[in-house]
This record gives sequence, C-alpha cells and structure tokens, in this order.
Amino acid sequence: MASITVRNLDENTKQALRERAAKNGRSMEEEARLLLGDTRDTPDSEYTSHTRILPRVQDEILDSTDLTDKRILLIIGGGIAAYKCLDLIRRLRERGAAIRPLMTKAAQEFVTPLSVSAIANDKVFSEIFDRDDEHDIGHIRLSREADLIVVAPATADLMAKMAQGHADNLASTVLMATDKPVLIAPAMNPQMWMHPATQRNIKTLDSDGIQFIGPNTGEMAESGEAGFGRMAEPMEIVSAIGHLLVPDSEPKPLFGKRAIVTSGPTHEPIDPVRYIANRSSGKQGHAIAEALGRAGAEVILVSGPVTIPDPKHPETIHVQTAREMQKAVETALPADIAVMVAAVADWRSVDEADEKMKKEDGKGPSSLKLTENPDILKTLGHHKKRPSLLIGFAAETENLEKHAQAKLKRKNADWIIANDVSPEGGVMGGEQNTVKLISKSGVEDWPQMNKTDVARRLVDEIIEHFSVETLEV
Ligand code: CTP
Repeated sequence: MASITVRNLDENTKQALRERAAKNGRSMEEEARLLLGDTRDTPDSEYTSHTRILPRVQDEILDSTDLTDKRILLIIGGGIAAYKCLDLIRRLRERGAAIRPLMTKAAQEFVTPLSVSAIANDKVFSEIFDRDDEHDIGHIRLSREADLIVVAPATADLMAKMAQGHADNLASTVLMATDKPVLIAPAMNPQMWMHPATQRNIKTLDSDGIQFIGPNTGEMAESGEAGFGRMAEPMEIVSAIGHLLVPDSEPKPLFGKRAIVTSGPTHEPIDPVRYIANRSSGKQGHAIAEALGRAGAEVILVSGPVTIPDPKHPETIHVQTAREMQKAVETALPADIAVMVAAVADWRSVDEADEKMKKEDGKGPSSLKLTENPDILKTLGHHKKRPSLLIGFAAETENLEKHAQAKLKRKNADWIIANDVSPEGGVMGGEQNTVKLISKSGVEDWPQMNKTDVARRLVDEIIEHFSVETLEV
C-alpha cells in the first residue's frame, strides 16, 4: 500500500489534481486514488464533464437514501439512452418515490409508453392538448405537483429548447411552467456535446439554476464512437436526486465545525433618510454561508442590508451598521472558521443628525465629518478567541495582489480571497467573480466562475484544510 500526502505535493501538481477532480466530479482524494490505480470508492471508470452535484455519495448512504413521498416528474427525451429510464424508474420506486412519466414523441421511438407506464405504475403523459383524456391534468399541474423534475435523457434538442425558453410540446411547456428544481442527465453524441451551440446552452442552463448530472465519457451506441456524451448511470442519477431532495443524505465533512460569515454592505446613517453605503449585493457571502451549511458546518450569517433572500441553511442575523456587525460577530464567537465577505463601510458620520438635514440656500453643500469604523476582520485576527481559519476578502481596483498581501498581514488572516471590483468587471452586484486565493504559502489564480461555484470551491479548500492530510492508497 503506497501513501502520498496531498498537502506536500508542489502547487502545480496540487492545482492540476484539483482541476482534474473538479472536472470529474470527485474529491481530490478520490481522484488521487484513481490515478494511483485504486478504485475502491470510485464508481466504474467513467469521468463526468459537467457533474454539478458534488460530491458523490458513498454506496452505503446511497443504499439508504429514502425518497418516500417524493414526487418526481420524469421527462424522457428521445435518445438511445431512454432504455436506461426503465431501470431508473425501478430504482427510484424501490426508494419510495412516486414517478410520473412524461415522454416526448421521439422517446416513444426508443422505448414503449406501455413498458414505462407499467414500471412507473402511472399513465404516461405526452400530448400537450389531451382534453378528452380523463387523466389529463394540464401542464401547469404536471409541473407544479412534483418535488423535482428530472430530464433523462436530456437530448441536445431538449436542452436547446430549455435554454431558448421554447414551449412547443408538453415537455418544453412543463419545463417553462415549473417553479420546482430541475435536474438534467444529458446524453448525446460527443460531437454534439462539444458543439459551440450546446456548450452555449449548457452555460445558459447552468446560470438558470438547472442542475446537471453527467454526461460520462465512454463508448457510444454508434460503433466506433467514444467520448463525453454517455448518459449518467441510473444509480448516479438516483444519487443526484438524493442530494437535491434529501440534503441530509449528503456527506457532511464540516460537521461539528462552527462558522461565522459576514455578507453584504453596511449602511452608515447620516440622517434619518440618508446613509453611506456601497454596491455589495451579498450574493458571494450568502453563497459561501449556504455552501458551508451544506457541508455540515453550523453557520451564523451576519448580513448587512441586502435585497436577496436569507439562505436556507444558516441562521441569519440582520444588521445595518459596521458597529452592529462587529457586535454580532463577536457575540457569535467562538468559531472554527470565519469568512469575512462583507463590504464594510470604512467610515461613518461622526454625528448622525436626528432630523433630515436641510439645504441652506446659497451656502453650498454642507460638509460631512467622518470617523473610521471598526475593522471586524482585523479585530478577529487579533482576538483571544481568534477562529482557527480566518478568511478575508480584498476588494481592489488596482494592484490586486500587493494590496491583498498587505491585508493578509495587517489583519492577521490565514487566507485572503482577492477580487478585482473595477466597475468594468461587474463583480459588485453581478453573478460572476474572478478571484485569487492568497495565503502565506502562495497565490492561486481561480478561473472566472459564478459566485455559487466560487463558494463551492472555497468550501472544498476549507474541507481540505481540515481533512486528514495523509492518504493511504
Ligand atoms: N473588513 C472588515 N471591517 C472593516 C473593513 C473591512 O471586516 N471595517 C473586512 C472585509 O470584510 C474584507 C477585508 O476586511 O474581508 C478587506 O476589506 P476591504 O474593503 O477590501 O479592505 P479595507 O480593509 O476596507 O481596506 P481598503 O478600503 O483600504 O482597501
């Protein structure tokens, strides 16, 4: 049995391993084991290119995934992989789920509605106008009465329809009308998957919040063809459904850890109607709090005034000013992890006027006397209850790395996530972020990602930080 220490790998190797693991939907440990020829925890030898439901659950958790009373609308698209749906339906029903099947016309060329209906124990829906049918319940009810919509196989055509917002058959109409989460299992020829149009559609669907499982790589039904495009196996789809519908079935690598996250701007009052603020939306901080919660940490989110909803998992404390935020953070101590994402206003008005300040005609603008706010990150960095992993952000418009390195030192943080917030980048308030992770051991450049993916990757780094360093392989 060989042994390697991931932390001791040089930065380039570690980065390559991390990227490969992320691309294949595995943890770094799983990927390392696979590379070293050990496949204990790795299903088959297939690689996924766009698996969004991470990490995979272990077999014993999967076997006990309880989907009792969960209602799944399964849209079967027209591809050769449609035959796998029979097995998928059987496995979902074994776990207690109720399956309502919907087949496109093309799907019925690959597998008969009769077999699907028999295995699902329900009528197969396929026509958009079926008013004569006593079972007809209409596309709105079909789309709303499910807890989850699964599209398997999701063909290139169905994905294009979804990305464009078409509603020209029952499947696409239901997908447009739904307010429920949607999971798709793409299946197509590798050339179709790689086509720029499909790749564009993937990006659109991703940013619309559609969840993906697979596709995998491997042999295609067409002889001699291989590559990305094989539909995920039924048990992989069951695993992804478990993640979405029964979040508690997810592994909780940060279970037992307590985390504090700050998010959003602060508002510093000038008078009863005016305040000093900034453009922070809270999207990045909220996504990090949510991701930490999903990984099992007990999370306290201290949020400044934002317009986005509170995340599902963490407890959220709402504050207005920097001083209120500092108080809430200190009250939440002790913690193992603190991620200070808030764009705290550096200054506040010395005297908050009790009444609205009036213009004094002809005398020009009145001046504002400012005083510095407490630096919450710096306070934590030097606190007697300093969290063992203290992470700050550095919002810069120039000399990103230099300023971030200085903040790392000055505030006694362990890591700084540095981001360029120049207006042309659209980071403040936008969906995307391009960051660098700066620590005492170096600088990691991350590619441009949406804020949810930045949060996931940061949480993966946090998990790695707290995980056992030596892998036995
Ligand atoms: N921060 C904080 N309290 C403050 C100011 C900043 O906790 N009063 C934290 C932020 O949450 C972030 C980090 O410090 O994690 C850096 O914030 P940033 O606004 O980039 O830097 P500042 O310290 O405000 O410095 P400058 O405005 O000079 O860039």
